[in-house]
Amino acid sequence: MKALFALNPYIWRYKKHLIFGTLFVIASNIFGVYPAQIVRMAIDMVGELLKVFRLINGFEVEGALKTMLVPSLLLFGGLVILAALTRGIFLFFTRQTLIVMSRNVEYDLHRDLYDHMQNMSLSFYRRNRTGDLMARMTEDVSRVRSYLGPGIMYTINTVSLTVIVVVTMLAVNPQLTLIVLIPLPILSFIIYYVESIIQRKSDKIQKQLSKLTTFTQEIFSGIRVIKAYVKETASGDKFADECETFKVKSMDLAKVESFFFPAITFLIGMSTLLAVWIGGEKVIAGGLTVGNIAEFIIYINLLAWPIIALGWVTTLIQRAAASQVRLNELLQQRSEVKFPNDNTPVEKANMKFEDVNFTYPDTGIHAVKNASFELKPGQKLGILGPTGSGKSTLCALMPRLFNISGGEIYLSDKALATYGKHPLRNAIGYAPQDVFLFSDTIRNNIAFGVPEATQEDVEAAAKAASIYENIMDFPEKFDTMVGERGVTLSGGQKQRISVARAWIRQPKLLILDDVLSAVDTRTEEHVLRNLRAYRQTHPDSAIVMVAHRISCIQDADLIIVIEDGQITQQGTHEALIQSEGYYQRIYQKQLLEEEKA
Ligand SMILES: Nc1ncnc2c1ncn2[C@@H]1O[C@H](COP(=O)(O)OP(=O)(O)O)[C@@H](O)[C@H]1O
Ligand SMILES: [Mg+2]
Repeated sequence: MKALFALNPYIWRYKKHLIFGTLFVIASNIFGVYPAQIVRMAIDMVGELLKVFRLINGFEVEGALKTMLVPSLLLFGGLVILAALTRGIFLFFTRQTLIVMSRNVEYDLHRDLYDHMQNMSLSFYRRNRTGDLMARMTEDVSRVRSYLGPGIMYTINTVSLTVIVVVTMLAVNPQLTLIVLIPLPILSFIIYYVESIIQRKSDKIQKQLSKLTTFTQEIFSGIRVIKAYVKETASGDKFADECETFKVKSMDLAKVESFFFPAITFLIGMSTLLAVWIGGEKVIAGGLTVGNIAEFIIYINLLAWPIIALGWVTTLIQRAAASQVRLNELLQQRSEVKFPNDNTPVEKANMKFEDVNFTYPDTGIHAVKNASFELKPGQKLGILGPTGSGKSTLCALMPRLFNISGGEIYLSDKALATYGKHPLRNAIGYAPQDVFLFSDTIRNNIAFGVPEATQEDVEAAAKAASIYENIMDFPEKFDTMVGERGVTLSGGQKQRISVARAWIRQPKLLILDDVLSAVDTRTEEHVLRNLRAYRQTHPDSAIVMVAHRISCIQDADLIIVIEDGQITQQGTHEALIQSEGYYQRIYQKQLLEEEKA
């Protein structure tokens, strides 16, 4: 329950909604009670008049009596309708305030959560699975919302209606009130109990459903493999199994649910029975009127709904509390990468690593060990090394996607950690090894980091990355959609779009992490030539390039060889081919391959 207190500041923002909502609920309940009293008056009046009527039966007053009775009954009927209408109006305003409040809070929560998650570091995303985070954003928030909306609304309603009705009933006859109220707490408890069973079962159904969805999604995206291995029947059988489980669980729920309404009706029936029975005895003994019994029956029915809501709202609040605990857990996590509030831009691409160490916090892998090197403006840094040696990790340290564990990185003679987030990241164009394109047009994918880019800018970047001709071959050119709803790009094409995306920012530091691996040699040469030109036109900028082919990095001013996290060699191409080591071995191997080809 305490977890839900975290929502108070959100609710406080919409306090007007809450206050007016409460008033509307109370008003609607008052108008809900009036019809019962009108009905009592009507019945009692008819009873009285009938007594008189019997006395004077046969005389000419009879006609006058009838003309008196009918209009007053009509008047009572009219009053009942009026009360119902007024109640309806207040109910409308109740929803307009309380439910609107809950939707507003939901919106604020979504936005805050999203902002929070976006600011979390990459290690956070390693620790938490995407599916879980999605569930937090959707399921948990929506459960919390049902506490804020229906939860709060029905709680206020239950309390105010119960007070109003019970006070009115006590005023009529305390003893009868106590007797007819006996079944109602039992009803509330039964509903709470059944409702928690229902929730447990529907949770299971929900889980099964998402299993089914995941399964289907995987089958459809892996359809090529399924067909190639003729596994259609096998996967169909598995699907049928999952569907069967889903059906069994749903039937299970349906069984419990089918007891629900009969039980409610039974207990309300019991109350009504008591009202008629005990009330009837009291009418015979005198002290109560027939109208009072009718009034009581209406009260019981009025109370039924809040009593049902009580059991329901209790489980609703319990679930919201559980969800809020998870949300609070998430919101309390802070990104370990913190940026100072500083707007000093990065001046030059001097990048200096001094004895830098980095260990992944979640896996404890010591991925970068005592790395020291210096990259000057206008230069190109080549990085070579076997897979898993730490090249990508080294690249990710440059835009400070992770905090280093030891040593210091300097950029433009200032420690990396002294730069604000925007100046630092805006100075860098980073094309990561695992290329990611959004399901959007090619243009928007390229201009992602520079939304204000003109068509010329986008085209220039595409030309630089040597992808322009490919794009112009698509019927919709730069408006071609990428991904599921559009063209399927080859690995090399995706890589080059990613290069163009980094390029268009005209960064001080351009980091290309193995993004030419799926590109043919002619295209590679073309891109390399453009990169050389870039360094000439941008003397303050530098380029970092990870590669597996010597041809990509042999023109670099500095090449570092990383093996198992350690820089084992550094120097120029000419120097490195002279000295024995990894570089020379790779160079000779690739020379041989070229000769064979
Ligand atoms: N996000 C990560 N979290 C934990 N460990 C990682 C992560 N990324 C890479 N590693 C580990 O760090 C080491 C270096 O990986 P990486 O920098 O990707 O090497 P390379 O780019 O040279 O192939 C590997 O042992 C890898 O398993
Ligand atoms: Mg890598």
